[in-house]
Amino acid sequence: MNRKEVISSIRSIKHRCEIPIMLRAVGVKNICEVGVDQGANLKLLATADPKYLVGVDVWLNGIPKKVRKFVKNSKCKIRLLHMYSKKAHKYFGNEFFDYIYIDANHKEKFVAQDIKMWWPKVKKGGIFAGHDFTTINYGVKRAVRAFVKNNKLVEFFHVVSGDSAKSWIALKRI
Ligand SMILES: C[S@@+](CC[C@H](N)C(=O)[O-])C[C@H]1O[C@@H](n2cnc3c(N)ncnc32)[C@H](O)[C@@H]1O
Repeated sequence: MNRKEVISSIRSIKHRCEIPIMLRAVGVKNICEVGVDQGANLKLLATADPKYLVGVDVWLNGIPKKVRKFVKNSKCKIRLLHMYSKKAHKYFGNEFFDYIYIDANHKEKFVAQDIKMWWPKVKKGGIFAGHDFTTINYGVKRAVRAFVKNNKLVEFFHVVSGDSAKSWIALKRI
């Protein structure tokens, strides 16, 4: 896919559940979700058919059984990092992931911190996204807006609806 096609594919997304269709079409290999909880979105991301899928979550009450079961039976290689985001990002080199989805702590300070830590881990030309771009979770909106405004490497920005809240999507310049 050329850049115009990638942008048009992102622009055509209307709902979060369509993101994996786009990721598959673009041909992503390495995917990471920061904030997994019960694995609803991790399951969706697995349908993008990645080579390597990483799920990061602090899971204060332990990894949920259904997440463990899903990982065990999944066709794609999934690695769960049971730890805080600020520790997990150190496991990866810069520009390792084709796609990263941020959905952990929604306070502005933590979203800004996650963006700062994980944006360098997105490949040039890759896709960075996250959940809860809503007025209620104002912290997310403020942190993401500041990131987009001050970052010349964001080539294209798009917002899509979801079951509970909107997701934001930013394309990194090549
Ligand atoms: C909204 S839930 C994630 C939902 C999931 N992305 C989905 O859509 O199915 C947020 C998760 O982030 C985790 N979390 C919160 N702060 C975190 C942090 N600093 N590092 C890692 N995980 C964190 C919580 O344990 C929780 O499970």
